[in-house]
Amino acid sequence: MLVGLLRPLLAVCGLVQLRVATALHYNHNNGFYYHDVGDGNSNGEIYFNGVRLYVESPQSSVSATRGSSVTLPCHFHYEPELSAPRRTRVKWSWLPANGAPAHPVPSSAFASETEVMVAMGNRHRSYGGFRGRVRLRRSAPGDLSLVINELRLNDTGRYRCEVIDGLEDESVTVELEMRGVVFPYYSNKGRYRLNFLAAQQACQDQDATLATFEQLFTAWEEGLDWCNAGWLADGTVQYPITAPRAGCGGLDLAPGVRSYGLRHRLLHRFDAFCFSASIKGTVYFLQHPTKLNFTEAVRACGENSSHIAKVGQLYAAWRLAGLDRCDAGWLADGSVRYPIVKARANCGPPEPGVRSFGFPPRQQKFGVYCYR
Ligand SMILES: *[C@@H]1O[C@H](CO)[C@@H](O)[C@H](O)[C@H]1NC(C)=O
Ligand SMILES: *[C@@H]1O[C@H](CO)[C@@H](O)[C@H](O)[C@H]1NC(C)=O
Ligand SMILES: *[C@@H]1O[C@H](CO)[C@@H](O)[C@H](O)[C@H]1NC(C)=O
Repeated sequence: MLVGLLRPLLAVCGLVQLRVATALHYNHNNGFYYHDVGDGNSNGEIYFNGVRLYVESPQSSVSATRGSSVTLPCHFHYEPELSAPRRTRVKWSWLPANGAPAHPVPSSAFASETEVMVAMGNRHRSYGGFRGRVRLRRSAPGDLSLVINELRLNDTGRYRCEVIDGLEDESVTVELEMRGVVFPYYSNKGRYRLNFLAAQQACQDQDATLATFEQLFTAWEEGLDWCNAGWLADGTVQYPITAPRAGCGGLDLAPGVRSYGLRHRLLHRFDAFCFSASIKGTVYFLQHPTKLNFTEAVRACGENSSHIAKVGQLYAAWRLAGLDRCDAGWLADGSVRYPIVKARANCGPPEPGVRSFGFPPRQQKFGVYCYR
């Protein structure tokens, strides 16, 4: 309120004598602050200090791999420099790309953010799934960069570094992206059988997570074309089309990601778009003298001290580790697939991709992909 009062007065009078209580501080929206330096018997002149708090990040987005450590840069300083240090508090908060709110997003950009860490002096506290995984880098004065260890698939989103010094409150945001691959997924019961919760579970079962819109969009830019609608992490249902055609939104629509918008999470059923990122282990096609039915395939991986691979692991190995193998193999969900990096004769279509035979009867015989 005082700020509101001061502004017109200053505008009219410039630096004039205003009768105000000693040591009252005023915050001004444009980042400047005004400071009453009166010592109790003064006329309460207001001096325009022109000191401003800057909070900055050299990178507006950072991309990382699952399981690694990442640093989200954030620095603060004052201009002009202060002679004495001020007591500042830093708060890192997060707007997850996944796990979108069940209701429409509140109008305030900050409202749906959750706290990651707060720190003041040497004291700090971290929250939720970040507890024990985050710290401030503090490699130099003013360095408030956030270090996150053991990155998880669902750590992606927008992080806000906010500095509060009692008078001022400035912030900057840094986007955290994860390198990975988007793949369409449908249930072994058939097409369009998954409601939102089942889709979340289906991706998780494949060592993946529901893709965000940004992840699907990137995949579309990289050529993903899929004519079946799938759930995304925000509860919308969409599908990516690079070659417009009848039955996929029609020929009149430009290429793009087609959206059915938000759908009912329990009642409506679609497929899913899952997102998988780099994996710690390796996926390999098991060298086995004979072809195997599904039960034998599971056992054979076990006997080779590994597990039958999940769909997300096969996609990650194909996309991020270059796994290329023209042999169909069982996967943990009972589907049969094979990964092709260099398209060639008798190995499916002329583009790279993970080829799928769907979910064949489990007594049929194929190879198997294991994960160790
Ligand atoms: C994120 O993933 C971890 C496992 O990697 C899980 O424990 C946690 O519940 C997930 N959080 C959300 C919000 O989905
Ligand atoms: C088990 O895996 C090893 C590689 O770690 C491989 O050399 C061996 O041939 C495998 N066994 C079978 C039965 O494929
Ligand atoms: C796979 O073959 C084994 C015999 O090696 C048999 O016992 C088992 O029932 C078969 N499993 C399926 C799913 O057909």
